[in-house]
Amino acid sequence: MLDVIVQRREQEAEDILSFDFVSSKNASLPAFTPGAHIDVHLPGGIVRQYSLCHPWSESSPGQYTIAVQREPQSRGGSVAAHALQTGMALQISEPRNLFELAPAAQKHLLFAGGIGITPIVCMAQALASQGQLFELHYFCRSQERAAFQRVLKSSALSQFAHLHVGTDTAAEVAQLLSTPEAGTHVYVCGPTGFMDCVLGTAANQGWNAQNLHKEYFAAAVVELQGDQSFQVQVASTGQHYEIPVGKTVFEILDSAGVNVPVSCEQGVCGTCVTRVLQGTPDHRDQYLTDAEKAANDCFTPCCSRSRTPLLVLDL
Ligand code: FES
Repeated sequence: MLDVIVQRREQEAEDILSFDFVSSKNASLPAFTPGAHIDVHLPGGIVRQYSLCHPWSESSPGQYTIAVQREPQSRGGSVAAHALQTGMALQISEPRNLFELAPAAQKHLLFAGGIGITPIVCMAQALASQGQLFELHYFCRSQERAAFQRVLKSSALSQFAHLHVGTDTAAEVAQLLSTPEAGTHVYVCGPTGFMDCVLGTAANQGWNAQNLHKEYFAAAVVELQGDQSFQVQVASTGQHYEIPVGKTVFEILDSAGVNVPVSCEQGVCGTCVTRVLQGTPDHRDQYLTDAEKAANDCFTPCCSRSRTPLLVLDL
């Protein structure tokens, strides 16, 4: 855990605030690679993940920047984040990266929808400084809601960054992905509908799944009707636990003192992925790939359930 203070709070775009965090001990903050995120421990015991928006650099190692969009359907996180004020102290995790740039790619195609620009703008700045080949396509409802415009219009990025405002997203994405290239990697972050559009289009146009990289920041809406209770067994102790309707595997195991690391608790970050030794999970996350889900040898206990009466977990 890192102790930081809010050094800067700024209106980045309509409904979007950006914040700079610096160490409260005047120390450097740990290095990270583009696409990384941190857990931010907000007032009220709320923990949320936010991408780091500017690349770490040895010349300015003391600062992390995040941007937060105020969500009308917020579970409390974006409201608590927007209440942060300059000078406030809080704790954050060390950066983790589940959305890395592919080191061997010859070209990078970056797609951002709305607030999904946060990891993408970091990637773009890093790629530009390394002289790598890339394009950034940023889809927004309006100019007012487009964040980081100053950075995107800077001399370093302006020739690579394309803002698509109020356009026909599906048609433009189809055009941009019309020619699959083996050496080109595609990255997407944004609302679920936008991500599904980019990933679905890429799959339909024949892009290799290995070349597609995604980061969800919100859980998909899951149909809960028909949920049933089931049992999990912790392999190391042989202990069985009943998972009732309305409770997650994580919640039951956690309250019984079984340690399962979690972060987002909504199936988007991958922190809780646990090996399944027996039984068939009912996958409800957006983190595992289709192939990983089909293998059924791991699942996300923060949100996924079971298709069989028993799941034996490698815990
Ligand atoms: Fe994030 Fe489970 S805690 S996927």
